[in-house]
Amino acid sequence: MSNLQVIILAAGEGKRMRSVLPKVLQLLGGRPLLAHVLSTAECLSPKQIHIVYGFGGDVVTSCFAGMEYNFVEQKKQLGTGHAVKQVLPYLSSSDRVLVLLGDVPLVTCDDLQDLINKTKENEIGLLTTELEYPEGFGRIVRDLNNDIIAIVEDKDATELQKEIKEINTGIILFPAIILQKYLPKLKNHNAQKEYYLTDVVSNATAEGVRVVSHQAECSLDVMGVNDRRQLSMLERYFQKIQAQSLMVEGVTLIDPYRLDVRGNLEIGFDVTIDVNVILEGEVEIGNNVYVGANCVLRDVKIGDNVEIKPNCVIEGAVIEDECVIGPFARIRPESIIAEGAHIGNFVEIKKSKVDTQSKINHLSYIGDAIIGKKVNIGAGTITCNYDGINKYQTIIEDGAFIGSDTQLVAPVRVGKGATIGAGSTIVEDAPSGKLTLARAKQVTVQNWVKKKKIDK
Ligand code: UD1
Ligand code: CA
Repeated sequence: MSNLQVIILAAGEGKRMRSVLPKVLQLLGGRPLLAHVLSTAECLSPKQIHIVYGFGGDVVTSCFAGMEYNFVEQKKQLGTGHAVKQVLPYLSSSDRVLVLLGDVPLVTCDDLQDLINKTKENEIGLLTTELEYPEGFGRIVRDLNNDIIAIVEDKDATELQKEIKEINTGIILFPAIILQKYLPKLKNHNAQKEYYLTDVVSNATAEGVRVVSHQAECSLDVMGVNDRRQLSMLERYFQKIQAQSLMVEGVTLIDPYRLDVRGNLEIGFDVTIDVNVILEGEVEIGNNVYVGANCVLRDVKIGDNVEIKPNCVIEGAVIEDECVIGPFARIRPESIIAEGAHIGNFVEIKKSKVDTQSKINHLSYIGDAIIGKKVNIGAGTITCNYDGINKYQTIIEDGAFIGSDTQLVAPVRVGKGATIGAGSTIVEDAPSGKLTLARAKQVTVQNWVKKKKIDK
């Protein structure tokens, strides 16, 4: 078994976010910052993952409830060293301990693995990077032999140290024994009156412990989120990485800067995604699919050869092969649009099945309905599924033709091959194969005379 323990520091409030939400629950790509760090930590298959939480308390733990993480409370946020100290009871002296920060969400598995491989069991390993503008970060201080001797926080740095461009990403690998030895001795004699984890480095090197460093592949991967400007910068970076990998996988993006993926996306060959599309939650898209401009798809499964025209909002639905959807369609949860069906403009579908090759092309509301094969629903048709208290079902059997502007007052059934005359209000079942009409007869008033204007 691995002797690698991962500690994720997530107790801070994140004052600079100016939010009631603990910082590590702020969303990046639709997922909490902490969720990103957890996924990355898991790819290392550690012995255990410890999450140090504090500010926001239960909000953080309940967000990840039911998962096999060890939540350790840090009652007062007295600094990163104090935070790691809370985990000491769970470490044994032969462990290696990787400290990750809950507000550094995009660190890569490769960089962490490289850091682990480069660092010997009895050494400290630092993940570092070089920044043109290192303000705000801890600086890596080296001696004349270029050996690392300390990390100095920005607020404690001398003018000369502030010139150093090599910074601490906050991600550090320690032998557990070093933490056991030095954490209890930390002092908070610094500008922030905090117990700094970084002081373990200088204290240990002073007693001969070697420190190695690994430079992150890309400095954006190791940027921290302290305020909303940094959050938005990382969001754009994250979306760019996702868009790049989609294009490598063979997806055509009309503009990679105008696609947002906030969740997990599985996608086939020859898919084209037009501008301003948002894909959220679990989205599956088959082969040869076109997604038009301004579409929002959330938790959707789309088959092959589907065309989604611009401005559609589809959520919690299955769209089977060969369908044509939109423009301006809204498909709501628990809907299934079967092979070859067409859902047109200004059509809302909720919790309904529309079977193969049926067409609902204009201005309709279809809710709680089961619609058979090759049904044609005329413009303006509405299922009246709600009486103010309960919801009822509408069933329309195969091959039925519903004339325009029909109201189907549920519960109601339209039989196989039935035709409903335009403008009908159907309150009783309509028999198969027959024409059913329910509308006032048209009359023309023969002796009617138009009034004339009288001049005063
Ligand atoms: C920290 C590092 C700094 C590094 C920077 C990289 C220290 C002393 N400083 O500074 O060298 O350049 O990260 O982003 O380590 N936290 C707790 N409990 C606490 C304090 C913090 O859990 O008592 C958590 C926070 O929730 C956050 C992380 O630790 O996720 C880092 O804390 P933060 O206050 O943001 O440290 P920085 O000033 O950014
Ligand atoms: Ca930070």
